[in-house]
Amino acid sequence: MRDSSRRGFMGKAFGAVAGVGAVASLFAMKKTWDPLPSVKAAGFTTLDMSAYNENELITEKWRGKPIFVLKKSAEMIASQTPVQQERDVIVDGSHYMVAIGLCTHLGCIPAYNTDKKDFLCACHGGQFDFSGAVAKVPPPRGLDIPPFKVDGNKLVLGEVGPEYTKMKESGITL
Ligand code: FES
Repeated sequence: MRDSSRRGFMGKAFGAVAGVGAVASLFAMKKTWDPLPSVKAAGFTTLDMSAYNENELITEKWRGKPIFVLKKSAEMIASQTPVQQERDVIVDGSHYMVAIGLCTHLGCIPAYNTDKKDFLCACHGGQFDFSGAVAKVPPPRGLDIPPFKVDGNKLVLGEVGPEYTKMKESGITL
């Protein structure tokens, strides 16, 4: 009788210790699986749009990809076709081309010519205009536009705002 009650006590004590250990290791495993706060934040790139100059291509980075940012001059805006206008990212009244800087043919990085105001992809001769629309094949579509959200005079890449949703729904970008 004494022996069995002792065994019972030992069993409960062992069970309690094992239970605490299991909960602790589950907690530790969950911590390992959860993304770190900095990794979550790393999915976004915030650009201060007041820092760009007209007709000067700046290449930013978002999720390891080159992002072209080109502020359009009044002359460029006035000369745009409806197709080019639809691709405009408008922040604080200024118009920008914002696009992933990889050719949609086979992924080379096109170069911007400030005099001609267009992009030439040296790999197979593809061209894009200053809005990122195709000017000469083989690229099958204009430069892709990354997800973005306008926030005052800032642009948050990686967040989806209504302007981006509209572009995506109308097939301007993939
Ligand atoms: S990769 Fe740009 S034209 Fe082929």
